[in-house]
Amino acid sequence: MESQVAIKCSGITKSFHSQEVETVALRGADLQVKTGEFMMLVGPSGCGKTTLISVVAGILHPDQGTCVVEERNYKDMSADQLLDFRASHIGFVFQSFNLIATLSVIENVMIPLIIKGINYQQAFERAEKILKKVGLGDRLHNSPNQLSGGEQQRIAIARALVHNPSILICDEPTSALDHMTGIKILEMMHSINRELKTTFLVVTHDSRIYQFADRIAHMDDGKIIRITNNHEN
Ligand SMILES: Nc1ncnc2c1ncn2[C@@H]1O[C@H](COP(=O)(O)OP(=O)(O)OP(=O)(O)O)[C@@H](O)[C@H]1O
Ligand SMILES: [Mg+2]
Repeated sequence: MESQVAIKCSGITKSFHSQEVETVALRGADLQVKTGEFMMLVGPSGCGKTTLISVVAGILHPDQGTCVVEERNYKDMSADQLLDFRASHIGFVFQSFNLIATLSVIENVMIPLIIKGINYQQAFERAEKILKKVGLGDRLHNSPNQLSGGEQQRIAIARALVHNPSILICDEPTSALDHMTGIKILEMMHSINRELKTTFLVVTHDSRIYQFADRIAHMDDGKIIRITNNHEN
C-alpha cells in the first residue's frame, strides 16, 4: 500500500524585495513528506530553509508553485480558511522560542487554545497534559525565564502541539542548546512522532541529530538537491 502524503510542495519560488534589492530565496523547491514521517531539512545558512517551511506552514505565500498540505491546496483557500487550517492542522516552533515572559509556563501553552475559543478550564487541562508529556508537569506556574534553554524549547514544542496538529514544523530546535540537551529534545520529539503519529518537518544545521530522521532533504541555493533515507543505509 502506498503511504499517504502529508506535504507536497512543487516548484516553489520566492523572492524578497527591500530597498530595490531583490533576494531570491527559493528557486523552484520541491518537497514531499509522508504522513507520520520524521523529515529533516538541512543545508547551508541562507539557502532558503526558513523560507520554505514558512511556505509549507502557510505563513508566507510563494511567488510561484503549489503547496498541498493534508490534501488541501493553499491556492484554493481564502485568507480566513488558511488561518483556520493552520490553527487546526499545523504546529510551528520558531527558532527563537517566542515565549511570553509575563505569562506562566502553562499560560504560554494555553494560548493557541484560548485563541480558538476553548474555555479556560479545558485549555488548562489540555495544556497540563501536554506539559506532562514533555516532562514539565512540575513547572506549570513558573515564568519561562526561570527555566533552562532546553526547558524553554520544550515549552515551545508543547505550545505547538497543544491543539493536536497533524504536522509539526520546527526551525532549528537544537541551535540554542548544548549537545546533550539537544539530543534529549530530539528523543522527546521522536517519541511524540511515534506515539501521536504527528508528521515532523525539522530544520537543522546539527549533523549530530540526523540519526533521528526517517529521511533528510538537503537544500542548497533555494532548491532541494537530494533526499537521503536513513533506513536504507
Ligand atoms: N524577510 C526577508 N527580507 C529580505 N530577505 C530575506 C527575508 N527572509 C529571508 N531573506 C533572504 O532569503 C534567503 C533565504 O533565507 P532563509 O532565512 O530562508 O535561509 P535559511 O536557510 O533559513 O538560513 P539560516 O540557516 O541562516 O537560518 C537569504 O538570503 C535571506 O537573507
Ligand atoms: Mg533559517
